[in-house]
Amino acid sequence: MKIYFSLLSSIFLLSTYNSFAQQKSTMNKETKQSIEKKVDSLLSIMTLEEKIGQMNQYNGFWDVTGPSPKGGNAEKKYEDIKKGLVGSMLTVRGVDQVRSVQKIAVEETRLGIPLIIGFDVIHGYKTLSPIPLAEAASWDLEAIKESAGVAASEAAASGINWTFGPNVDISRDPRWGRVMEGAGEDPYLGSKIATARVKGFQGDDLSDVNTIAACAKHFAGYGFSESGKEYNTVSIDRSTLYNVVLPPFKAAVEADVKTLMNSFNELDGIPATGNKFLQRDILKDKWNFNGFVISDWASIKEMISWGHAEDLNHAAELAVEAGCDMDMESYAYVDELVKLVKEGKVDEKLIDDAARRILTVKYELGLFDDPYKYCNEELEKTVIGSDANRAAVLDMAKKSIVLLKNEGNLLPLPKKGKKIAVIGALADDNNSILGSWRIASDDNSGVSILEGLQQYKGNKLVYKKGADVTVGQTAFTEELTINTTNTEDFDDAIAAAKKSDVVVMVLGEHGFQTGEARSRTELGLPGVQQELLEAVYAVNKNIVLVLTNGRPLTINWAEANIPAIVETWQLGTETGNAVAQVLYGDYNPSGKLPMTFPRNVGQIPIYYNHKQTGRPVNSDNNVFWSHYSDVENTPLYPFGFGLSYASFEYTNLQVSKSNISSEDTVEVSVNLTNTGKVAGKEVVQLYIRDLVASVTRPIKELKGFEMVSLEPGETKKVTLKLTKDELGFYNNDGEFIVEPGTFKIFIGGSSITSLETEITLN
Ligand code: BGC
Repeated sequence: MKIYFSLLSSIFLLSTYNSFAQQKSTMNKETKQSIEKKVDSLLSIMTLEEKIGQMNQYNGFWDVTGPSPKGGNAEKKYEDIKKGLVGSMLTVRGVDQVRSVQKIAVEETRLGIPLIIGFDVIHGYKTLSPIPLAEAASWDLEAIKESAGVAASEAAASGINWTFGPNVDISRDPRWGRVMEGAGEDPYLGSKIATARVKGFQGDDLSDVNTIAACAKHFAGYGFSESGKEYNTVSIDRSTLYNVVLPPFKAAVEADVKTLMNSFNELDGIPATGNKFLQRDILKDKWNFNGFVISDWASIKEMISWGHAEDLNHAAELAVEAGCDMDMESYAYVDELVKLVKEGKVDEKLIDDAARRILTVKYELGLFDDPYKYCNEELEKTVIGSDANRAAVLDMAKKSIVLLKNEGNLLPLPKKGKKIAVIGALADDNNSILGSWRIASDDNSGVSILEGLQQYKGNKLVYKKGADVTVGQTAFTEELTINTTNTEDFDDAIAAAKKSDVVVMVLGEHGFQTGEARSRTELGLPGVQQELLEAVYAVNKNIVLVLTNGRPLTINWAEANIPAIVETWQLGTETGNAVAQVLYGDYNPSGKLPMTFPRNVGQIPIYYNHKQTGRPVNSDNNVFWSHYSDVENTPLYPFGFGLSYASFEYTNLQVSKSNISSEDTVEVSVNLTNTGKVAGKEVVQLYIRDLVASVTRPIKELKGFEMVSLEPGETKKVTLKLTKDELGFYNNDGEFIVEPGTFKIFIGGSSITSLETEITLN
């Protein structure tokens, strides 16, 4: 019998409830203070080893039918759980598997402390939403929150309590494969999305069986991996750290995110996992973060490879001192911390603090009330893949699509009487469109773009592959082989294109060409797809290019030649239905790019909120200004850009006050008119520029946006607000300051804005 349960049951009022309603009402009554009390009581009876056990997380590979481990070092893991030396498991999933490991922790350990079960729920669990970068293109915070809620409900129904998301890494480098996981390049949009995702995962009540704890990652700077190469070093200045990298993490903390994950990179020469400045000084001291920090996979151990720690013992010491509370798969804490405390090298107070943080989250999740509360077969069957969840991810998918070009209104496609050729292997693919990072989903479970288009029966549709994109295995862990030579199916595609009124070409990246460890140095259409596009164009210019990809691509030729281009990213389970509804005009696209599309790789990093430099323009027609001699400075598509089947006009930009004090709120208003023939939605974007500052400021910074729906001919006055929170910035000591001076105010439908005015802060 567990000492913990027997000794403390009267104090903790522990009881096991089976019904969902009972669990919920019980946990709603839990107050912060009562949890604190319970954690303190529990800590007081825990041995040093057991406290350190809470700080240890193992990856799991249990047989679904029982707790017996198999393969590798599973025996040690199994034994360690029994000894109370494991606080968490990751990548155990499904009610059967979760119950198996939970049973060991609850029934076979001295104290019966439940495990917290973590999993990478990145854009859905089984029913997949668009990849996170695509969702960011919706700029629709409610939809993003709901999408995270759907993901949470399915994961929770499968026994999971905790997701390793959201990824809030700001990145300016599309060579980095993990841009697909984040919200793009902008700290303001990124912060709003971080908040929406945390709230979506965690809901209003963490103990509810539909919600899970979130984890903002990777803290910090990982998105700035040098040259876009995975796991590379990071070198950024303090101004960029405070103003660009940290704000989405701060927003997540303010939204009460329960955990953070540190990162594989170094910052100022100190690996983030052992970085005290980041984890203790900023996160825990300055921001008052009360949750816990988990390492990234083996990142404690990797401090040895970085040349920062001598051995595992040293690595454990550095990590715990720096504020990393839980060790994911380094075996550093479980093997080294007891020794370090006993030798007096690590203060036991640090162990108490880490264990306290972890236990608190377990209490908040309701795991002490009922360790099996997330293990409900009934919910697992009804929630996962439900019609409601599919409807929600379809809605999110449509909102994520960005119309990049529509010359001569080639789109929307007529619904009948046309011959349409659909070309490209990615059109007939149910797997790639699911995107990367979807460990729990079933392969080939997405609606392909071809299947979506086939539901519109009025036209004559012909499908031709044209060319393979990948050859061989496409499993998550294996390298893809891209077809760079085989053009034998070109002729067939060209013949079909010749006989068609319109050609829909579905081209782009395979879903596993982005994600972790999928950096690329070339960002054109992979393989022979560019050749295929040009060959088809030679016989039929009426091409709608449907892009499916996980990062910005360099598609200059297409932009110059192809009349219609639609960015569909990888939209998850409902991809085909969403794309078809947009191509046929049953849904009017409103997405806006969350990341700049470069003209070529040489322009990277390219981002809208860059600095002015000392020589921004070619003032007297000589060569000495900030530019390239072989390509212009502008991007192919700017941040915030996206078209609609409607068109919009911005007029009458006004500010409520042009001379303000730092306590004033300025209302910035503009009239938006739908000048098109159909109803549509537009994301009105507000940017500022602080003209003179003690630390130079970007040429433009997004500081507000609003989604507006308009009928044809309709005009609405849109008002956005600016306060000192938007006008200030972080100085190089990390203090938020508001300096007097003149600010330009811009409003428009992208970061290339049409209207501007000025205000002065006195
Ligand atoms: C990734 C994390 C992820 C972890 C667990 C690591 O390789 O960097 O983002 O949460 O694995 O799967």
